[in-house]
Amino acid sequence: MNSLQAAVRKLLISLLIYGPLASPLAWAETPATRENADHQCGGESCAAVVRGLFAFFDRDLRGLDGNGRSCNDCHMVTEQFRLTPAAVESRFQLLQKRRRHNPHADDPLFRPIDADDFRINGEHASDYSNLRQNALVRIVFALPPNMRLIDPATNQPSDETTVDVWRMVPGVTDLKLTGADGLNPWPRGPNATGGYQLDGRIATLQDQALGALLNHAQVHNPPSQRLLDDLSSFQRVLFTNGRVRTLSEAIDEGVTPLPDADPPLSSFEQQGKATFTRSCAQCHGGPGQSATQPPVVRFHEISSQCPRPVDTVTPARWNFLACPPRLARNARSYEITLPTGAKIRRTSSDPGRALLTGFAGVGPPAQDDWNKFDVIGLRGLRNTAPYFHNNSAATLEEVVDHYIEFYKRVQAIAPPGVVPPVASTDGVHFDRMPLPEERAALLAYLRKL
Ligand code: HEC
Ligand code: HEC
Repeated sequence: MNSLQAAVRKLLISLLIYGPLASPLAWAETPATRENADHQCGGESCAAVVRGLFAFFDRDLRGLDGNGRSCNDCHMVTEQFRLTPAAVESRFQLLQKRRRHNPHADDPLFRPIDADDFRINGEHASDYSNLRQNALVRIVFALPPNMRLIDPATNQPSDETTVDVWRMVPGVTDLKLTGADGLNPWPRGPNATGGYQLDGRIATLQDQALGALLNHAQVHNPPSQRLLDDLSSFQRVLFTNGRVRTLSEAIDEGVTPLPDADPPLSSFEQQGKATFTRSCAQCHGGPGQSATQPPVVRFHEISSQCPRPVDTVTPARWNFLACPPRLARNARSYEITLPTGAKIRRTSSDPGRALLTGFAGVGPPAQDDWNKFDVIGLRGLRNTAPYFHNNSAATLEEVVDHYIEFYKRVQAIAPPGVVPPVASTDGVHFDRMPLPEERAALLAYLRKL
């Protein structure tokens, strides 16, 4: 692992030198800039970017007394800063092999806090099924006062005050473009115009890094503000590719019109792009592909949770691929007390923003927080399988087929006479769904992002 890390550090440093570090290195030769101690790299202090780079890979941040995890243990640079089931399993197997010769061999990815049996066995937990099979990490939420978990053994509300949900590790590129944008506000916070984390609950990269250090790396001593700023600076200069970096620079410089971050496209891929613009960009909009475009509202449920909604009408008007048991087992049922005092039950593997607000079962579905997530960017998609917040789609084909069923469902459950903007370009026709003959070109375009 150490030689791998050394190689990866080298790779990143060279990337940075050809990227944002390049111009300051050139400037450093002029007397005027030699006096300026804090050179700028992609709008961040170069020194902070370099410190942040090393901190991102550091398993033993000085004085913090953590559990040995670095950011790179989950946001693996070799996996586009993500975690994949294949990478987790190969690390797990390697660890078992090393332990045969050295009982103290360690890989800090495997810490009891992310074991399936942590609630039961605490520090002795050892069942890493969700990590190994799904590359999912345990995220803990305090239950809102009006939501209670149902105990599956008794089918009655339990006295648990927190809930575990299992989430994929998103990449950390293009973050400069995917935070809150101040537009198209949702009726309630936190972060009504988007933020970081899959549910948009965190406003800044500093707060994000603090949360990661406390919850994932279990540090005992508070990190310095400088460390948090450094991690933010490093991540703010990471982009999926040079074209996205150029787009971000153009935004900083106020250039209009903004350059397109797509590579040159064949005419087939151009057709796919037209389908993307109609079927996907109303949600995956803006420079980060993570901002919904009004009149489409900010946060959405795309039926990616488990269990997937099943139609009660025969023949079924939509048919999502059912979740496999390895994911379906993460579903929990909740009892929700409505403002009227009435109680309802709902089941989900991850209620999303409803865990932040308790706002579920009230108002029209578009306004409800149940199962709602922030929209995520899609750059570099061809290299980042599996997909969705719970890694439930194995391929891009599965993603597109999922959305075709999503559109069928939106139409099927819309009240008579209502044509939601999410499914319609003109408010009259359900015309956003990708057509069967458009599927191949859309897939070809998605592989170019
Ligand atoms: C144990 C694995 C793990 C470790 C270690 C970890 N992360 Fe994460 N990270 C996650 C998961 C899981 C999420 C998504 C959580 C959610 O949405 O609730 C995430 C989300 C993020 C995001 C949000 C991305 C977005 O698009 O909104 C950023 C930024 C991030 N992590 C940075 C860091 C940094 C910096 C560190 C090191 C200080 C770190 N992470 C350490 C698992 C990890
Ligand atoms: C109604 C809004 C909406 C529409 C329309 C939409 N998406 Fe999404 N998309 C989301 C949200 C919200 C998420 C995050 C939730 C999740 O991952 O489960 C997401 C996640 C994704 C992901 C997962 C990314 C990852 O890194 O795992 C992919 C891929 C994706 N969308 C592709 C598409 C494509 C292709 C289309 C068009 C056919 C599309 N989306 C249309 C809202 C939308």
